[in-house]
Amino acid sequence: MKFFVDTADTKEIAELAETGLLDGVTTNPSLIAKSGRNFMEVTKEICGLVDGPVSAEVVALDHAGMMREAEILRKIADNVCIKVPLTVDGLKTCKKLTGDGTMVNVTLCFSANQALLAAKAGASFISPFVGRHDDNGFDGLDLIRDIRLIYDNYAFETEILAASIRHPIHVLECARIGADVMTAPPAVIHNLFKHVLTDKGIEGFMADWAKTGQTI
Ligand code: E4P
Repeated sequence: MKFFVDTADTKEIAELAETGLLDGVTTNPSLIAKSGRNFMEVTKEICGLVDGPVSAEVVALDHAGMMREAEILRKIADNVCIKVPLTVDGLKTCKKLTGDGTMVNVTLCFSANQALLAAKAGASFISPFVGRHDDNGFDGLDLIRDIRLIYDNYAFETEILAASIRHPIHVLECARIGADVMTAPPAVIHNLFKHVLTDKGIEGFMADWAKTGQTI
């Protein structure tokens, strides 16, 4: 399972990239606003921090506008992945861009049928929003399960990028289901490393090691 971090905070990205476990980054207009940085500048910086795909989202809502923005965004770096919303215009744009060899992440997916359309449009990634689905009384993990089944039925190559991940159980369940990628805020990724018994175990080993008086 690939790990993407869902942030435009370059300090957090650099720190996670250091672990060697980071496969890519996703951003969205809200995360860019939160960073307080210039979209083009921060995206370029992020693209230099990771080798994998960096999703940069268009803000136009019509096909011509999306294509115009994608032209600008894809020149930032080779690892830019153009993020488009799951609308008719978004999928039209997806089809055109992937046909030209550009990576596309189709975002704001809330149904398996939408995911089917995105795969038919040749999306590189489909982003079903697990947490926001849960927030509205639907089971976000069921959505991932349905998409996995449908993509496997037809051997679609579109990668399932489980998004809007809120806690470690979401990550665990997405891994069980077989999502190809998950994107989560830095805090959720940091929490994956933690276990109280790991901390306790280290404490015990260190105390016993000190008794030996040895060094390595
Ligand atoms: C996906 O690419 C989105 O940026 C993101 O996962 C949305 O998550 P949220 O629901 O926590 O805002």
